Amino acid sequence: MTSPVLSDPMRREVLEGLSRASKELSPKYFYDERGSRLFEEITRLPEYYLARAERALLERWMRPWVAELRPRSLVELGAGSARKTRVVLDAMRAEGCGEVFVPMDVSAEFLLETAKSVRAEYPGLRVEPEVMDMTAAESVTLEIPTPTLYALLGSTLGNFYPPEAVELLGRVRSWMKPGDALLLGVDLRPGSGKSVDVVEAAYNDAQGVTARFNLNVLRVLNRELGADFDLEGFEHRARYDPAEGRIEISLRALEDQTVHFPGSVIVSLEKGEEIRTEVSCKYDRASLAALAEPAGLRIHRWAQDEEDRFALVEVRLDIGPGV
Ligand code: SAH
Ligand code: AVI
Repeated sequence: MTSPVLSDPMRREVLEGLSRASKELSPKYFYDERGSRLFEEITRLPEYYLARAERALLERWMRPWVAELRPRSLVELGAGSARKTRVVLDAMRAEGCGEVFVPMDVSAEFLLETAKSVRAEYPGLRVEPEVMDMTAAESVTLEIPTPTLYALLGSTLGNFYPPEAVELLGRVRSWMKPGDALLLGVDLRPGSGKSVDVVEAAYNDAQGVTARFNLNVLRVLNRELGADFDLEGFEHRARYDPAEGRIEISLRALEDQTVHFPGSVIVSLEKGEEIRTEVSCKYDRASLAALAEPAGLRIHRWAQDEEDRFALVEVRLDIGPGV
């Protein structure tokens, strides 16, 4: 059932994106319940090295980092299933310092399921899920004990263009108090460690799960906005752009398409035209610092896996030397 309250801003945003010369949709619309499950499936694919590399880094570094920071709260943006987050929660439990976990996500039902299972697995931990859009400017009031460890894992930062990423980091910074930290998991640029082929394969898996995930956004638009996209009429595309340092994901029209939205709105696509549905930016230390610094944050620690595929980064408030 379409909620007019939820759908109006969504309709506005979607139609604005589809009326541009280069059509574009926000990746947040991938994540209805089905999209969240498809992303979970992606994390288990042999080609999707990101999730395994990040888990190994968390297993290696969380205990010593948590031992130093001693966070009483963990706030995770884009928590999803919080599967890897258990490694952070385990480190907090082992150090005897975790009291509150606030998983935040735009995917409401999936988030509530996550909260339910974390509650069952960690008796005594206060679990307070927040359904929220991290791109929206609305303020969030968090009444939680400090120090707080904020987390944005899975290289989700990479799904934001640089100006939006700075804005998001700035928003998290505005929540942070001295002694707090932000944990980022970021996918690295191809280079000495991994080839472009390895990165592209992660987004073009042999089983076609990423293609189903990508096409899911059209299902969401059909259901939520009453559009009539023909899912058979589009194919999944994912290519690495070395100049931008990012994977670009799109849906390409296999034939000329006419899509109807209620209110007699028509969106036309020519055969071969693409709708960009996501970017997945890849980083090195300099490009990540270039996002953190204008947001008032600085890189405090940086750890990467032996194959130089992925990095786990602790970022702190930039409030001068010695802090
Ligand atoms: N952190 C998890 C999930 C990453 S997938 C992991 O590392 O495996 C990205 C997550 O961010 C999804 O759960 C999705 O629902 C959420 N998300 C995407 N856009 C969002 C937005 N604008 N606001 C809040 N959550 C968002
Ligand atoms: C959530 N995010 C970091 C994933 C990524 O790798 O950019 C989403 C994804 N899109 C296609 N595959 C995975």
